[in-house]
Amino acid sequence: MKKIIKNGIIVTAADTYKADILIENEKIGLIGQDLSDPGAEVIDAEGHYVFPGGVDPHTHLEMPFGGTVSKDDFETGTIAAAHGGTTTVIDFCLTNKGEPLQNSIDQWHAKSKDKSVIDYSFHLMVGEMNDAVIDQLPSVIEDEGITSFKVFMAYKNVFQADDETLFRTLEEAKRLGALVMVHAENGDVIDHLVKKALQEGNTDPIYHALTRPPEAEGEATGRAAQLTGLADSQLYVVHVSCQEAVERISEARKKGYDVWGETCPQYLVLDQSYLEKPNFEGAKYVWSPPLREKFNQEVLWNALKNGELQTLGSDQCSFDFSGQKDLGKGDFTKIPNGGPIIEDRISILFSEGVKKGRITLNQFVDITSTRVAKTFGLFPQKGTITVGADADLVIFDPTVERTISVETSHMAADYNPFEGMEVTGQPVSVLSRGEFVVRDKEFVGKLGSGKYLKRARYGDFKLSSEEQLTIK
Ligand code: URP
Ligand code: ZN
Ligand code: ZN
Repeated sequence: MKKIIKNGIIVTAADTYKADILIENEKIGLIGQDLSDPGAEVIDAEGHYVFPGGVDPHTHLEMPFGGTVSKDDFETGTIAAAHGGTTTVIDFCLTNKGEPLQNSIDQWHAKSKDKSVIDYSFHLMVGEMNDAVIDQLPSVIEDEGITSFKVFMAYKNVFQADDETLFRTLEEAKRLGALVMVHAENGDVIDHLVKKALQEGNTDPIYHALTRPPEAEGEATGRAAQLTGLADSQLYVVHVSCQEAVERISEARKKGYDVWGETCPQYLVLDQSYLEKPNFEGAKYVWSPPLREKFNQEVLWNALKNGELQTLGSDQCSFDFSGQKDLGKGDFTKIPNGGPIIEDRISILFSEGVKKGRITLNQFVDITSTRVAKTFGLFPQKGTITVGADADLVIFDPTVERTISVETSHMAADYNPFEGMEVTGQPVSVLSRGEFVVRDKEFVGKLGSGKYLKRARYGDFKLSSEEQLTIK
C-alpha cells in the first residue's frame, strides 16, 4: 500500500526542508509539497524530523568470541537497531584459515536469513592471503556482493593477521575494487604487556585498558595507513578511540592517502575510569580498543566535526554481565570483549552531538547514514532521501527527553553501558523499504523481512541495472 509521510522536516546530509514523501513499491516515489493520493495511507510527521534510515557499518551479531557467543543475534540485534533508527547493518563474517570462504559466508547467511527485520550485508574477515584465497575473492565480490575485507592487527593467536597478509589484502582490494578495514592495535605488543600484567598479579578489568595503551593503537593505525599508501589502496579504520589514531589518519589523509576512520558512541561519552567500577562491574566496559582517558572524547568529537573521522559504527558485540562477562573474574583476559550499543548509536550522536552543538544536523545524518552508505557501496539505494531510493525512513522526535536504561532497551544483554544517561530525541517510527518496523515506538516488523544486500565495488556508486534509480 502507498504511504505519504506528511508535514515532517526532511533532513539529508545536504539539506533540511519541510516536504511530504510518497512511498510506493518499497521506494520513495515522490517528494513535494502538499502531496495527496486517494490510495495512500497518510502518516503525520508534524514536529518531527524525517531522516534516512541509519546504516551501521560495524556489528557482530551472534558471533563466537572469547569462549562464548555474542548475546544479540540477528533477531534481537536488528529489532534493537530498528528501535534506535538503524535500517541497515553490515555484520562481520568471520573466516577460518584454510577453509573455503564460502563456508563462512553460508554460515552467516544461515544465521541471518530468517531473523533479520532490516536489510543487512556482510564484511569478510581475511586472516591469510595466499593463492587459494586470491582465487576465491572474485566470487566473494561478484556473487556475494561483499566488497569490504576486514584484517585484525590484534587478538594474537585468535584473529590477528601478519603485515604480509595486510599488505597483500590491500593489493588485492586495489585490484578488485574492495575496501580494507582494520582493527588497528599492535597485537604483539599488547600480548607482551598482558603477559607481564598477569605475571605481576594484575588481573582486574582495568588492566584490559592498561595493557592496550593508545600508543599501540596509534602505531598500528599509522602502519596500516603507510601500507595503504605503499599499495596505493584504500583503508577504513574501525573503532578509532584515541588522539594517537586520529593523528595518524589525519596525516595520511593530508598526504592524499585514501584512508577513512570510524569511531563509536562509547568512545565519545565514556572513559577509562568506567573499567575501575567496583564489584567487577568494570567488566561491562571491556572492549577493544579500550575506553580512553577523558580528553580523547573531545578529540574524537572535533575529528567528526572537521571530517578527519567520517562515520559512527556501533561495534555491537554484546555479552551478559552475568554468565558471560564474569568468565573473566580473576583474569581480565577472559572477559569477552564487546558491548550492547546498536540501539543507542543514533540517539547518542543526536543528543550529545547535534543538541550540544558539536556537529550539525546534516553532519549527523552523514555520519550515521549517508557517508556509511557511500563508503560501503550502498548509496543511493540506502543512506539518503531521494526519489528512487529505498524507503528506509526514521520519523524522529527531537524534543523528547529520556533516560537510557536496560529496562527499556530492546537489546538482549542484561545491562546497558549507557545506563542512566539522559538524552534528548528518539525515533518514533521506522520504516524499512516502506513497511513499518517500529510504529509509535512499538515493534511491528516481521522476522526475516530484512533482505541481504549485495554491495557495489569500492568507489562505484552505480548499482546493478535493475537497482538503478529511475524517476517515474
Ligand atoms: O571489543 C570489541 N570491539 N569486540 C568486538 C570485536 C572487535 O574487535 O571489533
Ligand atoms: Zn575490533
Ligand atoms: Zn568490532
